[in-house]
Amino acid sequence: MLSVEENETLTRVGPGTKMGALLRQYWMPTVLSDELKADGAPKKVPLMGERLVAFRDTEGNVGMLDELCPHRGASLALARNEECGLRCLYHGWKITHDGKVVDTPAEPEDSNFKDKIRNISYPVVEAGGIVWTYIGPQTLDGPPPFPRWEWADAPPERIIVSKVLVEANWLQGVEGTVDSAHLGFLHQGAMKATARVAALGGVTEMTKDGFERPSADVRPRLEVENTHYGFRYAALRKPVTDADKNQYVRISHFIAPLYVTFPAPKGTANLIAFVPLNDEQSYMYFIRYATDGEFSAEMREFILGRAGLLPGVDLTEDHGKIRNVANNWLQDRSAMESGESFTGIYGVPNQDLAVEESMGAIFDRSKEHLGMSDMAVIRMRRRMLEAVAKVGQGETSDLMAHGPEFRPEMLRGFETVAPLTTSWQSLIDGPAAPVDSLAGRG
Ligand code: FES
Ligand SMILES: [Fe+2]
Repeated sequence: MLSVEENETLTRVGPGTKMGALLRQYWMPTVLSDELKADGAPKKVPLMGERLVAFRDTEGNVGMLDELCPHRGASLALARNEECGLRCLYHGWKITHDGKVVDTPAEPEDSNFKDKIRNISYPVVEAGGIVWTYIGPQTLDGPPPFPRWEWADAPPERIIVSKVLVEANWLQGVEGTVDSAHLGFLHQGAMKATARVAALGGVTEMTKDGFERPSADVRPRLEVENTHYGFRYAALRKPVTDADKNQYVRISHFIAPLYVTFPAPKGTANLIAFVPLNDEQSYMYFIRYATDGEFSAEMREFILGRAGLLPGVDLTEDHGKIRNVANNWLQDRSAMESGESFTGIYGVPNQDLAVEESMGAIFDRSKEHLGMSDMAVIRMRRRMLEAVAKVGQGETSDLMAHGPEFRPEMLRGFETVAPLTTSWQSLIDGPAAPVDSLAGRG
């Protein structure tokens, strides 16, 4: 349980808020690279209660600007995108990707007014098919280093990125992603416990009917450990076979401020982020990375189709879900009654988003009752409140994974079946780990 004040601190993200100050110390995903075509329509980028606009100019440069025109505030999302700049519809001012005002056509011909004005422009990086920006305080050295995720420079064939509008505060999404205990309930329809995968090293496999996992245990024991980037935790369960000797270990990482990695089916790695648009909406970015090989077009369609995240089918053009609050996530009660579906909701991520959105846009956590199975959720909030306090004293957040030592491949989710006597940390920590257990990484 949190106090009302702590809940407010954790969830409010706009300018001038405590969490807003913390989140502004990090690079943020904003739009997908393919949402921006050269000379194409600019895109509104709502981010932490602020209004930005992104566009790609004639030469391919991405501009990330304040959405409102520096003249008298018309939205530059309406602007024409022509010859290396946005031309505001209202009085024709033209603004380049780096915020220079290069034309003020209604002003006298000899006026140098435009040279004295700039629109605010933010730094951008394109990586992993996503345009990232940094809107926080700048030091003399510029923005902080960009996190080179392991898929940052991977070719598109190796990455699947889903971007989904979520009608809930960002924290509800992050909480759901560090909550291993719900797997045995909310997603039970998609998970089948088999001795086969238990015998094959305990790594979840994707089949055409769902996921095969090595455990049916619904009572994981959680162990949580702080790290310099946030924390990591293991959910320890009884495997379907040899439970007297072995345990099924699932390790996830919370990477501040809003990323979670968790075990992914064989040959892939997962990362989920919940990026606040404002206090009551967020975008979920679900990144799947092929650690070995690439995704065929067929595989891509299969993965997205089964997740219920197929663009144009399950998602609208602006990343909305066809299963949403307004239609009760298309919950099918007859499928629940017949036993065909536990939730009546199609697709694992849709099940997550349904329960997270069902709590209301900002859940009042002074009303909750937390148990042992919520240990990772509790730690995430605590780490973030500690970081907020630090930033509140004028310091830089110390929850930073992205310095020169950043080793993103070490932050992959991991699962295996291991002897009860083996510590879970030793399974992922460097040379002490037995070589065989590394085969199941990711
Ligand atoms: S408001 Fe944009 S040119 Fe006047
Ligand atoms: Fe889930």
